[in-house]
Amino acid sequence: MIRRDEMIGATLNLGGTPISLDDYATTGLLAAAIAPRGMGKTSAGLLMAEQLSAQGWVSVLVDPENELESLYGDAVSDPDALRDALEARDRPIIVVNAKDAGEFVPFGEAILDAADQHRKPIFAMIDEGQLFSGSRRRRNGMGEAADIINEFAERGRKRALDLFITALRYTGTLQRTLFANKNLTLIGLQEDPTAWSALAPQFKASRIEFADLNALAPGEFMCLSRRGVEKVRMPMAAALKAVAPKAKPVAKTLPATFNQWTRAMSAIPTERLVELSEDVVGVLSTVAELSPQQILAGQAALQDELEART
Ligand SMILES: Nc1ncnc2c1ncn2[C@@H]1O[C@H](COP(=O)(O)OP(=O)(O)O)[C@@H](O)[C@H]1O
Ligand SMILES: [Mg+2]
Repeated sequence: MIRRDEMIGATLNLGGTPISLDDYATTGLLAAAIAPRGMGKTSAGLLMAEQLSAQGWVSVLVDPENELESLYGDAVSDPDALRDALEARDRPIIVVNAKDAGEFVPFGEAILDAADQHRKPIFAMIDEGQLFSGSRRRRNGMGEAADIINEFAERGRKRALDLFITALRYTGTLQRTLFANKNLTLIGLQEDPTAWSALAPQFKASRIEFADLNALAPGEFMCLSRRGVEKVRMPMAAALKAVAPKAKPVAKTLPATFNQWTRAMSAIPTERLVELSEDVVGVLSTVAELSPQQILAGQAALQDELEART
């Protein structure tokens, strides 16, 4: 039996109960995040990459959107540079720019070769996986790219190659083999009720329903691991935190101190607070240009206040 020794004692902290990678020592990690744009899939991959790279992995971030170089340094210039970097293992996080399947293929081959030759832990994040591993369209190198990604998933285990892939939708975007074999799943906001039939089997043992998935905010996911299902609110990756814009100063008309806030809050009748449904809060927050963190904080405060009143 194959046992991935680097997994023993390693953990992932994705905002919920820490995930012990001991559970993945005989299988390796095949993780997927499914959510629409803007819901935190890329951030989730960065968080995992940062944590795994701190525990001995070299992370390779395959970036079709050219957004990660500014966070983790210049992308490798070509597949040979990637081969060299995976041999030297002196860069914990390596960015690969590949805007489509055709560009990805030679880099994917470099990753497979490195895994074969060195058998040292590599974490590959394939962002926007539907660009590389479509379930239907097999053109422009897509078939070849999909085959490589399937190799990652199938042979990765014995070669210490772990995979994280993101996709916009649950059905029709990724190859079935990936979906069938994934062992860590992050499901973010779902807006289409017809998607529920495909999702429901995974939530059978939990009390989670479509409405729960429909209410997820950016950075929130249902996390399905070997230990079960849990809603998680993900911390920001360190590199993102470093560049996040500072919160705007609070406008003077708003209460500034804790006492002012409690007084203002207690002046609002319960009937009105109850009317602040998630949708209403969403609209108001958008108008006020609040950050997702501010919205989450506000929702938590509202929840606390309502609970305190009942
Ligand atoms: N863990 C998080 N907590 C709060 N907000 C987040 C979190 N992750 C992402 N976001 C917000 O969501 C936005 C989109 O995140 P991103 O990872 O680029 O989404 P996606 O890759 O799904 O399009 C970020 O700019 C950030 O404002
Ligand atoms: Mg993204």
